[in-house]
Amino acid sequence: MGSAQELSIDPELTGSSRTMLGIRFSISTVVGNESSKEYLTQWFDLGAGRLRGTQELFADAAAWQNFVGLVGDGLHGFPGIGAGSASTVDPQKPASLNFDSAGDALVEFGENTVAASSAGNVVIKLSGTVVTPLLSVSGQQVRDAGMRPTGLPARQPSPSSSAPDSNSGTGDPADGAHDIDGPDVDCRKVKCVALTFDDGPGPKTGQLLDALKQADAAATFFVVGTNAEVRPKVLARMVAEGHEIGNHTWNHRVLTSLAPDRVAKEIGSVTEVVEDATGSAPTLMRPPYGATNTTVKKAAGAPVILWDVDTLDWKVRDAKRVVSNALRDTRPGSIVLMHDIHSSTVEAVPAILKGLRAKGYHFVTVSELLAPSNPRDGAVYGRGPAPGKAKR
Ligand code: NI
Repeated sequence: MGSAQELSIDPELTGSSRTMLGIRFSISTVVGNESSKEYLTQWFDLGAGRLRGTQELFADAAAWQNFVGLVGDGLHGFPGIGAGSASTVDPQKPASLNFDSAGDALVEFGENTVAASSAGNVVIKLSGTVVTPLLSVSGQQVRDAGMRPTGLPARQPSPSSSAPDSNSGTGDPADGAHDIDGPDVDCRKVKCVALTFDDGPGPKTGQLLDALKQADAAATFFVVGTNAEVRPKVLARMVAEGHEIGNHTWNHRVLTSLAPDRVAKEIGSVTEVVEDATGSAPTLMRPPYGATNTTVKKAAGAPVILWDVDTLDWKVRDAKRVVSNALRDTRPGSIVLMHDIHSSTVEAVPAILKGLRAKGYHFVTVSELLAPSNPRDGAVYGRGPAPGKAKR
């Protein structure tokens, strides 16, 4: 070919949170005398470990159609675009969908795509109050990530990240751009809670994982060897979906009554099973009944994690009471004790997630919660059983 060809792709971070990362690509193509510029934004779901297509950001097919229609209306009202021009987002391609700091949606079209190049870039702005109800859980996460990137270390604002746009159609979606750095959530700055589930995995653990995924919440599972051994796929799923696995021993015995070699075996055999299923060893250890002594701490091989909120789920076996106990007792920084082997507990989880989120909590793993204090192997974190109370 004789004509000059040039392609340049320029990525930038357009939104980030502990759950979502948005990268906006500007793609410039020059072929001979023709130049065009396109935009696309890819949203990476950190919890699910994959990209979310634009349609997945909407609640259902009707919501997506509604959005496509709104964009089409916006385009037709845009100066320089005639009624007959290419009308709206292409369902086959990721759109460049972003949100500004006010929560309004911005949909970008490049030069020479929906309009003649004389029209330049076209940005359709849709009011947040109209678009938000159409979003899926992922879409809401994208909106949050665009509005206020969370958990990022404090840094000097870059010149381009000030001035939130407010004029219709002229917004620069790059306004929310920040660098990626450091841990996702800083529990020193925001309210965090670590939900923990012991004694599983059980028959209902998959259902629990579904609920956590739906709410995009991380949790920690202290698994028992006898259950872990028969459900390796559930263990793998936990890790794949961003949860943490802790060691709750093989037989759930009172470790303080066992000889040191038995204690080591109770812990070591679970480590092997978890490693086989997930590729990595448990990162935490919780002794059954919260019973610890020097032998247990030495054998733990990981930080020893107790709890400070006991939902008493193992005792009440009543979803409503588990919910009310969890909502009543949780404080910022709490480690909440539950058991995923009880269906009443699994039933309670969606309402716990909803209730605590409404209070502003972020759901993190125990290691994320404790990260600021640099937990050490064999050191004990959390209060554990209340004095004189029977414990599971
Ligand atoms: Ni237990």
